[in-house]
Amino acid sequence: MKVLVTGANGMLGQDLCPMLEEAGHTPVRTDVGVKEGAAAPAWEAMDITSPQVVREVFERTRPEAVIHAAAYTDVDGCERSPDLAYKINAMGTWSMAAACAEFDVPIYYISTDFVFDGEKSEPYTEFDAVNPLSHYGASKLAGEQMVARLCRKHFIVRTQWLNGVHGRSFVSIMLELARTRSEWKVVVDQIGSPTFTRDLSAMLIRLLPSRLYGTYHVSNRGACSWHELAAAALQMSGITHITLHPIPASQWPSPTRRPAHSVLRRYALELQGMDDMRPWQEALQDFLQQQKTLTANL
Ligand SMILES: NC(=O)c1ccc[n+]([C@@H]2O[C@H](COP(=O)([O-])OP(=O)(O)OC[C@H]3O[C@@H](n4cnc5c(N)ncnc54)[C@H](OP(=O)(O)O)[C@@H]3O)[C@@H](O)[C@H]2O)c1
Repeated sequence: MKVLVTGANGMLGQDLCPMLEEAGHTPVRTDVGVKEGAAAPAWEAMDITSPQVVREVFERTRPEAVIHAAAYTDVDGCERSPDLAYKINAMGTWSMAAACAEFDVPIYYISTDFVFDGEKSEPYTEFDAVNPLSHYGASKLAGEQMVARLCRKHFIVRTQWLNGVHGRSFVSIMLELARTRSEWKVVVDQIGSPTFTRDLSAMLIRLLPSRLYGTYHVSNRGACSWHELAAAALQMSGITHITLHPIPASQWPSPTRRPAHSVLRRYALELQGMDDMRPWQEALQDFLQQQKTLTANL
């Protein structure tokens, strides 16, 4: 299947596209730019905020499915520049949804746990009410609404706490800090499920032939706090000289209100007997191993 991927040079996109190829699909990589130092295979320049450019790329490449991963993902940046957040995450998704509707192509829109307020003590199912606390969450939710309204053939795939070897994730920042610091503070009262981009990619590929359109939660199994995640990543990397001081989110300097408990229950997958996502600790181990191999090969 020919699969157009937006945000192909991003953290998720760089894992997803080669995995699509391995699975026998043909990715059409699109993005606004390429990351410094990234070895990018051929890709199409496509700014999703331009409906004309998007339409022209669809006309020329004729995709059979679209995985829309492009977004303005800097959550604090979204808080400081809400117009840019809505331009890329809402307007950009609007133009993707319009093109998918016109060309009758299923869209897989990657969304986020930030659509929830994190007040629920149990994991969120796809049937729970949304209530974003931030411009990032609200702009991604606006994207969900565009996709659901314009495209009958839509998959809204919410995920959270992504780690990928081709991006700057929380875990990679922790490992970077460990080179120069012996102690730092980590938030202890926000809970989520760390998710490996390769595991999310594998599930997206499994969903490609599905016709059960709708909303899906995809994350690794289990949940932890940022503090527990940092401690696990350091311990698995054999780093023992660090002291992590637990702090409440209220002491973390950020303009963004984040959901406190936004664990996603993969209920749609469960109900279809498809929920075999592995535990986050196993996925983290694999992520760390792959990052080590990548660094060794540089
Ligand atoms: N990272 C997480 O923890 C997380 C959690 C939940 C959901 N998600 C969602 O998962 C998806 C992938 O996330 P990610 O971490 O891989 O993000 P990422 O690394 O920031 O990749 C997003 C890509 O989209 C590109 N982009 C930005 N504006 C664009 C535009 N106007 N037109 C076309 N491309 C544009 C970015 O380019 P520039 O970098 O040059 O701007 C970047 O290459 C996003 O939709 C995100 O909202 C992520």
